[in-house]
Amino acid sequence: MNSEIKKLSIDADRLWSDLAAMAEIGPGVGSGNNRQSLTDADRDGRLLFQSWCEAANCSVSVDPMGNMFARRAGTDPDAMAVMVGSHLDTQPTGGRYDGVLGVLAGLEVVRTLNDLGIKTERPIEIVNWSNEEGARFAPPMLASGVFAGVYERDWAYARTDADGLRFGDELERIGFKGCERGDDIAPHAYLELHIEQGPILEDEGIDIGVVTHGQGLKWLRVTLTGREAHAGSTPMPRRANAGLGAARITELVEQIALEHAPHAVGTVGQVNVYPNSPNIVPGRVDLTIDFRHPQTDTLIDIETRFRAGVATMADEIGLGFTIEDVGGFDPVAFDAALLAQVRQASTALGLSHRDIVSGAGHDACWVNRIAPTAMIFCPCIDGLSHNENEAITREWAAAGADVLLHVALEAAGIAC
Ligand code: GLV
Ligand code: MN
Ligand code: MN
Repeated sequence: MNSEIKKLSIDADRLWSDLAAMAEIGPGVGSGNNRQSLTDADRDGRLLFQSWCEAANCSVSVDPMGNMFARRAGTDPDAMAVMVGSHLDTQPTGGRYDGVLGVLAGLEVVRTLNDLGIKTERPIEIVNWSNEEGARFAPPMLASGVFAGVYERDWAYARTDADGLRFGDELERIGFKGCERGDDIAPHAYLELHIEQGPILEDEGIDIGVVTHGQGLKWLRVTLTGREAHAGSTPMPRRANAGLGAARITELVEQIALEHAPHAVGTVGQVNVYPNSPNIVPGRVDLTIDFRHPQTDTLIDIETRFRAGVATMADEIGLGFTIEDVGGFDPVAFDAALLAQVRQASTALGLSHRDIVSGAGHDACWVNRIAPTAMIFCPCIDGLSHNENEAITREWAAAGADVLLHVALEAAGIAC
């Protein structure tokens, strides 16, 4: 690589202003975003992204799951693409950078190559995966899961939101149900830049996280069934209180995660109480459980203990219950050769780096099944994410995008 190429960097101001422009779409209640998957706000964000990609001379296509691919042609018409990207959908009270950074940094890579007239042998494709968050349609990473052959498309189309609306119908409604990409869809390599969503890089003053592994995840949905009854006239011993069961499950999840310290985490994130009236003993509660751990065996042990604990608790309180397996994934190890390139590019750019395990799920975890994949982390303030106050600095974003640029260029090959 010549010295001019070694010094290449993206336009930090342009990336920063694009991040701010995307955050105008689907504003949240605070400083973040509510751009949940397949809402009107998601559609508007997609259209803005598409217009930026077309202005950068990319051809934009959409697959049947609404995944968007913006392609910058390479000089070799038969070469498989190097894919860079992440997701533009957000949590209901999401930040401005979770996912968005990876997509817009991908666009910045392409614009930088355009500005400098650098041609690559392989095409570069910027991807925006549909429904990474799983907040509106569970499970998360639904569309990259279909892309990687983990889920059936029709099963994915049949996922419903809280109002019973189907993923497939909502995709059609916003005008992003696209066409087959053909048989050979796997990229040559996939690269995803993402904020860490945890505190390690900032605490240690490190610029770049080289993501060696992603931890495993298990999502369950528990439905507890008791008996609705008058809150004033029903004696305590005669109640079948599904609300009490939900409280015990919340304790159980905490206890099981702590028993598997230091790596296990467990969360009850969504609780729906029926009929949700102040003077009715709850007759039914639905709640979601999110367990994560870097080792498959431990994750299985956690689930087994949880299921046994729910059965014991339900018996004690006199409740019926069901436990639905909503989805999840096994821990993953990313591609060693690409990780070496991430370390090398960071060093060449004068950026400090360390290996790190991702606590969050990412589309990269699924794409890793069909193509060599690497993730690059940049720090975020206080490790805060899935929160409207999620924040990063312009310099952190630029450093991550610079590493992405160099690794993508190495993978795509500079054409003579
Ligand atoms: C994805 O956002 C996750 O929950 O890990
Ligand atoms: Mn994300
Ligand atoms: Mn997220």
